[in-house]
Amino acid sequence: MNAPVPPVQTRAENLSRRFAEVYGAEPDGVWRAPGRVNLIGEHTDYNNGFVLPFAIDRSALVAVRLRRPDSEPEAEADVVRLASTYAPDGEALSRALFSIGGLEPGGVGGWAAYPAGVVYALVHSAGAAVPGFDLLLDSTVPVGAGLSSSHAVEVAVTVALNELLELGLDRPRMARLTQYAENEFVGAPTGIMDQSASLMGQAGSALFLDCRSLDSETVPLPLARHGLEVLVIDTRVVHSHADGGYSARRSSCERGAAALGAASLREVPAGTSLDGLDAETRRRVRHVLGENERVLQVVRQLRADDVGGIGTLLTASHASLRDDFEVSCPELDLAVDTALAAGALGARMTGGGFGGSAIALVRQEEEERVRAAVLAAFAERGFPEPALFTVLPADGAGRVRVTWSRGE
Ligand code: GLA
Repeated sequence: MNAPVPPVQTRAENLSRRFAEVYGAEPDGVWRAPGRVNLIGEHTDYNNGFVLPFAIDRSALVAVRLRRPDSEPEAEADVVRLASTYAPDGEALSRALFSIGGLEPGGVGGWAAYPAGVVYALVHSAGAAVPGFDLLLDSTVPVGAGLSSSHAVEVAVTVALNELLELGLDRPRMARLTQYAENEFVGAPTGIMDQSASLMGQAGSALFLDCRSLDSETVPLPLARHGLEVLVIDTRVVHSHADGGYSARRSSCERGAAALGAASLREVPAGTSLDGLDAETRRRVRHVLGENERVLQVVRQLRADDVGGIGTLLTASHASLRDDFEVSCPELDLAVDTALAAGALGARMTGGGFGGSAIALVRQEEEERVRAAVLAAFAERGFPEPALFTVLPADGAGRVRVTWSRGE
């Protein structure tokens, strides 16, 4: 059983109320953006390849109010005040502040870097005029679990400002802007998958995305009809994409593509001889080429309504990430091996790796057994207790209509 997560509507109403207490005025609105699980297609996005993530039923919510130049001090016109309900122990809120004119890459730290990065991207990449605003954040996406909690914040801020400032940005453009925020402002060289899932996900489906063109299609993922669940095993090993491992993998892939005379690994046909590459680069390239093929196979199987049948491909993806791409870790391997031994149809690490979460595709009636086995195995190895919960494919980001008003 999952610990209960309050419905989005209730969270949004509470957030609105809290916003009024913190800032002394009602927000202009509340926007939601989900985290994501990647079903398959790992470390393929920055190689212009294929991915198949889905938006999950855990999300960031932001309540936002633009500054009113006519009724507020001019000195504050370009100030952004931020508060988050995710606060250090003993604090009611975690607060931050920046001025839009003073934004420079790396100049804002902690969680505030994500909203600041979005503002920076809107101003410097989209040429938008962004006034100051107040923002209150609340999230049910676990932080550091590899479920894209930071992208959920960025996407929520992007959709909020897109609507409030009437920028008219479409979803692929918003995905590119949040990638710009991550790459140029936060300093993490990540790809386009996470924000795309958060922006373009659809309930009951996975998102089949071509990261070269950003063309996407939804592929039905009727878990319940097949008596299946996707169980997340958060190892609690905190990962960071700003650390060296992720960018080293990215550079290896770029070197491999160049050595094969291709602009990116997407342009390297399956079956191309990799003999001329050094052993490490060969393993990295082999993972990416194989992973793109596995995504296409999973899409074919889901279209044929063979949901249980994708399990072996998920497990093959894990083996390739562990052995060839070398981005797994002992906790992720233990989670995967134990889930499989306890009856999961397939399991793999999800997201960038080096920690974070694994997913297991399990039959509903076997979920409890898999959970118990994973908890026991972690305890036996002396690893910290993992967090286990199921996720469902949810809708991408949007506004949450809040009916509460201060007068009521
Ligand atoms: C992280 C990045 C994504 C992607 C994955 C690996 O989640 O943010 O862009 O590269 O790692 O598939």
